[in-house]
Amino acid sequence: MRVGFLQFYPKLFHEKQNLDKISLMLQNCNTDLVVLPELCTSGYSFKSKAEMEPLSSADSGRIPDFFKHIAEREETALVAGFLEKDGELFYNSQILVDPFGNQTIYRKTHLFLNEKDIFAPGNTGFKVVKYKNAFLGLMVCFDWIFPESARTLSIMGADILCHSANLVMPFCQKAMITRSIENHVYTITGNRIGSEKNRDQALTFTGMSQITDPQGNILVKADQTEEVLMSVDIDPEIARNKMITEKNHLFEDRRKEFYDL
Ligand code: ACM
Repeated sequence: MRVGFLQFYPKLFHEKQNLDKISLMLQNCNTDLVVLPELCTSGYSFKSKAEMEPLSSADSGRIPDFFKHIAEREETALVAGFLEKDGELFYNSQILVDPFGNQTIYRKTHLFLNEKDIFAPGNTGFKVVKYKNAFLGLMVCFDWIFPESARTLSIMGADILCHSANLVMPFCQKAMITRSIENHVYTITGNRIGSEKNRDQALTFTGMSQITDPQGNILVKADQTEEVLMSVDIDPEIARNKMITEKNHLFEDRRKEFYDL
């Protein structure tokens, strides 16, 4: 299975420019799966719901249709962050689409910093979806700092954690190596690059998107500033063997009576 990430610089408030760039960068991508950044169609630094409204989309319509079109055109699954509106609420959401028109939506569970002022906390719970011979687990950015996210997805059967990100702190890329090792799964972090300033909020995003294998090896990694699609061949079934030694099973050896948090 050939899996990858698309690292790029989404421009705040410039949806058409972002969709055009995604479409261009995914041309002839020759992958089975690509993970794109969080909120990659809209940019990140919203300060009000009035600003969010025109960039938002329902779980059917403009943005899902765009990703379905690219997935069909390139015969690849895509996982991407977008700004979802449902009724009066905005969600920091992630969409998984396959080339056959199927879609799954995950709403970010753990909101970061000022996201708490403008987004509703995700209410979908974690999602694992079978695609080709792999089980894909969905997570968004700050979900990484809670090991429960990766653990829950892994116990649900995920082989590959598809992690759409807009990272601003420098720790996550290292932590995802540990998430791989402690759950024996692949991880794909599709992060963004660039800076945004909106009133009092100025952020610089860390790039360094990466793919890790179940032993924590980094298979491919981008730098902090490049716009790039990177991909690698993996065997998802390797993630299903949770025997760490001949006597140690990652999940069955847990002593939950001592840490039932
Ligand atoms: C983040 O969750 N965007 C840091």
